Amino acid sequence: MIHIKTEEQIGLMREAALLVSKTLTEVAKIIKPGMTTLDIDQFCMNYVKDHKATLSFYNYHGYPHHICASVNDVVVHGFPNKTALKDGDIVSIDLGVILNGWHGDHAYTFILGEAAPEAIQLVKVTKESLYKGIEKAIVNNRVGDIGYAIQEHTEKLHGYGVVRELVGHGLGKELHEDPQVPNYGKRGTGLKMKENLVLAIEPMINLGTHKVFTDEDGWTVKTQDGKVSVHFEHDVCVKAGQALVLSDFSIIEAAEKANSNLNSSYY
Ligand code: MF3
Ligand code: CO
Repeated sequence: MIHIKTEEQIGLMREAALLVSKTLTEVAKIIKPGMTTLDIDQFCMNYVKDHKATLSFYNYHGYPHHICASVNDVVVHGFPNKTALKDGDIVSIDLGVILNGWHGDHAYTFILGEAAPEAIQLVKVTKESLYKGIEKAIVNNRVGDIGYAIQEHTEKLHGYGVVRELVGHGLGKELHEDPQVPNYGKRGTGLKMKENLVLAIEPMINLGTHKVFTDEDGWTVKTQDGKVSVHFEHDVCVKAGQALVLSDFSIIEAAEKANSNLNSSYY
């Protein structure tokens, strides 16, 4: 079922999305080699709770952590763990919160230090593809237009692999609402979008093959060829002419540029 939001509800959803952005901004300030993803999990948990919100991933279908931390060949749903992050790692942090009953859910990929040039390029192009998709999230366009735009920019233009098994989604009182938002597809197909439909658009793009598998833990999704994967996610409200992006990368990017342990050379 599709849930169109009122302007008031969009305002509340923006606050939830911004709390995720602010939390990821704090992560951008402190992340460095030697730190563990479990440290980041605990940091995010405390920050979100201090801001009168709850963590939406914890216990979602039994998910056992507060964030997803997906490093290098992990595509999404990586468990935070005690392995120290190292120079050259590509780290996606995905966080969901519930604030005043509304979900915010978005993700950002950080590059630690001197990463491989092809990995840095993948980060750049994946982020670009997210904005190509957002451009299509306007009234009377169809959901397939979003996936088509993302696939064109990543698969067709750069030869990357677009993950098929996992998709973006509607967002609201629930973490996952209709419609599904694939990162691939045909123009002019799928649901026709109405004003104030809120979507989490989240390209998951692999340097090599699009094929993935799920680890024995039942959650961790990895690339079949072991090559790096990148994930960015924004919360987006469909509007006429131009989508309204509820989450905010600009504060994360400012912190990223100020952290000398992070590589932001792709800007
Ligand atoms: N952003 C991801 C999603 O929308 C994160 C979900 S993790 C889970 O699917 F643990 F909550 F499943
Ligand atoms: Co999501």
